[in-house]
Amino acid sequence: MTGHPTNLFVLTGAGVSAESGLGTFRDRGGIWARFDPMKLATPEAYAADADTVLDFYDHRRRGVVAAEPNAAHRALARAEAWIAARGGRLFLCTQNVDDLHERAGSRAVTHMHGELLKARCCACGSVTPWRADLSRTDRCPACFTLGRMRPDVVWFGEMPMHLDAIEAALAEANLFVAVGTSGAVYPAAGYVRQARALGIPTCEVNLEPSDNAAAFDDARYGPASAVLPRYLAELGL
Ligand code: APR
Repeated sequence: MTGHPTNLFVLTGAGVSAESGLGTFRDRGGIWARFDPMKLATPEAYAADADTVLDFYDHRRRGVVAAEPNAAHRALARAEAWIAARGGRLFLCTQNVDDLHERAGSRAVTHMHGELLKARCCACGSVTPWRADLSRTDRCPACFTLGRMRPDVVWFGEMPMHLDAIEAALAEANLFVAVGTSGAVYPAAGYVRQARALGIPTCEVNLEPSDNAAAFDDARYGPASAVLPRYLAELGL
């Protein structure tokens, strides 16, 4: 690829928010090393013990509210504006449920695993911005049903969100960059191979080689807050 990318597809994972103090899932001491996802992040867990599930997400939501974006989030926001000003697009697809990309200034963020700062009513399906704790004593602001609210996040066994828009953006990209993701969870983990099959150059930006490292043409390793701004500058962004 000569010159700066005009259609950049960026996939982010928990590693981009690690230096903002939000936990990753599969690193040593990660969230899934301390908590059982089958008991906290599935529809069955919520049906069986909603209070425990809601309490787990309350703790994570408080962490998100208290966190601040880091230099990696800010570098992506700047790159989005720079490319857009020249008629291109940076499509930011995140697996993260925090709002740090938005708070860093990214205008278009596709949350394929949902958003922790939104709550969804299981009775009417409406989604409401939600920054406070969430419990079964809460009513849906739309239908007033009591005790049927859940975090608007994608649990294991549920379909990720916005898959059509993600596939369409991937097909148009002329560079695919993954930042801070282990490549352990599909469909996100498969996007690099789809990009390669389309002849799109790929780069992994990660603390260390991920499970998917061999699938990438290029890589930059180290903490995202240091490595990503440098890499985007290399691209002329
Ligand atoms: N800078 C860059 N990368 C980092 C940093 C950092 N400071 N710290 C950790 N990493 C890398 C790790 O090396 C790891 O490869 O970030 C990756 C985090 O991997 P996971 O913890 O598996 O997170 P992620 O890939 O986002 O998980 C995907 O799994 O449980 C589900 O829904 C959850 O969205 C999540 C999905």
